[in-house]
Amino acid sequence: MKDIFPAALVKRIVKKTGTPVYIYSRHKILENLDAYKRSFSALKPLFCYAMKANSNGAVARLLAQNGAGADVVSGGELYRALRAGFDPRKIIFSGVGKTDGEMAAALRAGILFINVESFEELAALERVAARMKVKAEISVRINPDIDPHTHKFITTGKIGSKFGVAFKEARQLYAFARASRHLEPVGIHFHLGSQIDSPEPYAKALSVVAKFILLLRADGVTLKYLDIGGGWGVREGCDMLPPGILARTVGPLVRKLGLALILEPGRSLVAAAGALAVTTLYRKKSGPKNYVITDGAMNDLIRPAFYGAKHPVRPLVKRPGKARRYDIAGPVCESGDFLAQGVSLPMPSRGDILLILSAGAYGFSMSSQYNSRPRASEVLITGADSWRLIRERETTRDLTEKER
Ligand SMILES: Cc1ncc(COP(=O)(O)O)c(C=O)c1O
Repeated sequence: MKDIFPAALVKRIVKKTGTPVYIYSRHKILENLDAYKRSFSALKPLFCYAMKANSNGAVARLLAQNGAGADVVSGGELYRALRAGFDPRKIIFSGVGKTDGEMAAALRAGILFINVESFEELAALERVAARMKVKAEISVRINPDIDPHTHKFITTGKIGSKFGVAFKEARQLYAFARASRHLEPVGIHFHLGSQIDSPEPYAKALSVVAKFILLLRADGVTLKYLDIGGGWGVREGCDMLPPGILARTVGPLVRKLGLALILEPGRSLVAAAGALAVTTLYRKKSGPKNYVITDGAMNDLIRPAFYGAKHPVRPLVKRPGKARRYDIAGPVCESGDFLAQGVSLPMPSRGDILLILSAGAYGFSMSSQYNSRPRASEVLITGADSWRLIRERETTRDLTEKER
């Protein structure tokens, strides 16, 4: 794996921006998108980037300019996607709790379709479309009851989760949409979860969804799009799994159905392309444990605390001495505040920069101001020796800006 964060460049960035700072590689993001395009070239799918993974405007613009569409899950993400220049006919709107206002905004923008997740949502969308005197193009998110064997918080395609609807109910939703003057069923959707490291769950889901599509055809519902969601895995510290593995499995199944394929990759496009740079503040011991306390914390990167994600840690300067195991923790007042645990390193000096790798997805986008910590800045590396600030660090003033 080529070093996309050369130490000399990172040092220069950090000198200007301070830490914590998210650093992304333009080259790596495009390389990942290209890998998807090449692997799926026979099917020519629409890749709708899951904006939730990293919704910075510069990252979104980069993907929009290179032909991607967007998968949005809120009015805010829809706003961001339109602002970044995604073609509205390449935007789809997913999520279990869309408000009337959000649905109206999507219809006004003329997006490709709305992924519906319950009967009540479909009825609400019909009312909104009728009020606006338009026809809403919809897809139903199926819950195919497939276990993707991933963390429980990122498993979404098993019955019992809040996402999608079972086949029996989905058939009723399609019948309702078909009979409505204000709804047009155009697609079918599933998203199984995140960090899926095998094509098998997709193949299983596709085989049951294929049967269902034939049943719908017999009901007189003819669809155009098959949206198989995102979730393709990236092990922390590695590149994404080759998408060719996925393409080889789903390709023949999709071709048989004759529908236009849509994928919603998030993490796999941006995770490996990003790192969080933090500064070592203090070293301390607590019984058998060695701690490195940094200026980055769980409010900046919550994945280790939330999902048990294991981000590799790379010190920018290699210190001499014997490696010991360290927990890399932040200043937040929670025992769950750590960026990495049990990392083997020679003791860093105070002021040393540590790079928390594989942080390009669900890093900044899940960050908060908890403990009244202003959110980090973001930088895009644009060339071998060039970079630009794509989000300024928040100030303490920003914290109270909206308070009255
Ligand atoms: C509907 C939907 N599509 C796509 C994604 C993107 O998943 P990933 O980032 O794992 O590719 C998600 C993630 O939660 C999702 O909920």
